[in-house]
Amino acid sequence: MISRSLVLLEEIQMNTIRRKLHRLALSLPSVLSLLVIRPGPARAQVEKLLPTPQEAEGPFYPDTWTGDIDNDLTKLNGQSYRKGTPMTLAGRILSVDGRPIAAAIVEIWQCDETGKYRHSRDDGEGPANRGFQGFGRTQTNALGEYSFRTIKPVHYAGRPPHVHFKVLAKGHKNTITQMYFAGENAESTVLRLFGGFAKERERLTIAAEVQRANGITTLNAKFDLVLESTA
Ligand SMILES: [Fe+2]
Repeated sequence: MISRSLVLLEEIQMNTIRRKLHRLALSLPSVLSLLVIRPGPARAQVEKLLPTPQEAEGPFYPDTWTGDIDNDLTKLNGQSYRKGTPMTLAGRILSVDGRPIAAAIVEIWQCDETGKYRHSRDDGEGPANRGFQGFGRTQTNALGEYSFRTIKPVHYAGRPPHVHFKVLAKGHKNTITQMYFAGENAESTVLRLFGGFAKERERLTIAAEVQRANGITTLNAKFDLVLESTA
């Protein structure tokens, strides 16, 4: 009698378990449906950046890169240059997919506030003798950032104010170009036709932020460059 009761009890327990399993089986698809990894919205296409337009190197690329060639053109041999309009020139070097390029070499060269280059074909060591370094070289950090301390270049020989750039980075094409200032970036027609300049002048033109303090005007210029891959 006792064993019969035990069998009945066991059957009742088994039936209860079966019912629970059945209910679970019925609800499993809906549970699973929550776990299915649904395809998200179509992956946004990675916008490619346009490489910075190239321009002529021009005749005044530095003859020699010796001596004081750091990123502060307003300090030469420990002396500060106090002529012209002081300008901070900074930006990032990027690949066309927007990634920062670290350890890129960034070179700039430009005229001083008298319109003269530190070059044997222009004023020789004139700018340097006056205390202006004339050209500088630096390297980007891990974020692809570079910065220079310089002065705003001026018009010379019919050319608008500009800073020359040469950027070298592993796996990327060398980029030689020039940066211009908003409102004063027009080239004369003759120079535009024969000067080896990019048609996309606006893409090489920046609006420098003007800061005035204690009667001194300084400029804050930001210029990012995008390098084409060699791959
Ligand atoms: Fe120039």
